[in-house]
Amino acid sequence: MSKVMQAVQRKASLTYSLFDPAPCNFPVSRVSLLPCMNGRTSISAAKNADFELVGRNRASRLYTRGRYALYEAYRLCGVGPEGGLLAPAYHCRTMLDPAISLDAKVSLYPLSPSLAPDLTKIEDYLSTLQQRPRAMLLTHYFGFPQDAATVKAFCDRHGMALIEDCSHALFNLSEAPQLGQHGRYTIASPYKLLPCEEGGLLIAADDQDFGARHPQRPGIGREMKTFATALTRIGHDRKRRITQADVDLLPEAVTSLNRRTLARGIEHSSRKPQVSDLYVRAEESLAGSIASKLLIKISSLPQAVAKRRENYLAWHRNVQDLPHCQPLFAALPDGCVPYMFPLVIDFPQDHFYALKTMGMPIWRWDDMAWSSCSTAQNYRQHLLHLPCHQSLSEVEMRWMMSAVALVMTRVPQRRNS
Ligand SMILES: Cc1ncc(COP(=O)(O)O)c(C=O)c1O
Repeated sequence: MSKVMQAVQRKASLTYSLFDPAPCNFPVSRVSLLPCMNGRTSISAAKNADFELVGRNRASRLYTRGRYALYEAYRLCGVGPEGGLLAPAYHCRTMLDPAISLDAKVSLYPLSPSLAPDLTKIEDYLSTLQQRPRAMLLTHYFGFPQDAATVKAFCDRHGMALIEDCSHALFNLSEAPQLGQHGRYTIASPYKLLPCEEGGLLIAADDQDFGARHPQRPGIGREMKTFATALTRIGHDRKRRITQADVDLLPEAVTSLNRRTLARGIEHSSRKPQVSDLYVRAEESLAGSIASKLLIKISSLPQAVAKRRENYLAWHRNVQDLPHCQPLFAALPDGCVPYMFPLVIDFPQDHFYALKTMGMPIWRWDDMAWSSCSTAQNYRQHLLHLPCHQSLSEVEMRWMMSAVALVMTRVPQRRNS
């Protein structure tokens, strides 16, 4: 058995590495991390000839979030006390929560630096087991398609169901779809890529594979609440508008940051065998709202696709010559519609803190189950997820790119980061 999987195997119940940012008092992000309704987010019933939503023309069900679609996919594949889940070592908690809710054992599999599953090591590990996991989760991180055909063949050989995780990947090329083509089930999170408040899609490769259980329609109270939350978010987004004056002030902001000592977050660990606070068991069988369903249907795909690619490429050009950071992926493939711009930074102790203190919108999976996968351990602190969505204005992009450039070039780094 490979050393990596041996170590994973010994951790029968998961240990989570956690980061508590409370002492840092980071301000609210100055720019929205997800798309929202504004003048730049087009709604149009016009069809897009080139792109379609993943799972189009397949049987699908809408839940409130991808995590609850995952719950149903895991359950339908037999994940539970009798059979475990093989999940990627680099993950957010909501990818594992549904399996924990089903009382299943979760094994984490190692990934290459480009986040592809290391099939050789997984094969070694599987050969040591008496009982195979029931399903393997394959994540198309940041919208970049994995080699799902190869992973499907691997799963078939080992008697596991493949579940494609398209939480970051909603748009498929109409002529040559690459996403959701091989999984027995595919899940997606429309709310991450379109300006709707919620939405978790469960797509079955075969209609027969759907159990009789349908998600429950939300009551009118829940529908109204979702609508009200959407309106509140539009209000918040209006308030945090960035102007050229904010861009001009950035050099000064970095200078004053360099004079301060920034409070540090707290790293700790937990072995609580429970779902995270992000997982609400009562929502496991709840259908997505009518408003979200409608927005998914009428959001303009051409605008989302074009803007996401344009913003991603602008990020890529902006960081190319910067010190202390590298894009996770060397190029943006044709037909790939990115969810975020993933940036690997060398000195998180300096640069992550500086950026967050300036109000930079950043997601980082620093709340993660421990594994001996070096990629996951490294990316937990070093990989930043930066927005490139269709609702961003030019000045917001300029502000974010200038902030990263200034921090990388002017905030001093210490070697022990
Ligand atoms: C890769 C991935 N898969 C699944 C999920 C769960 O999706 P949702 O947020 O729609 O519940 C997430 C959530 O962030 C995710 O990043």
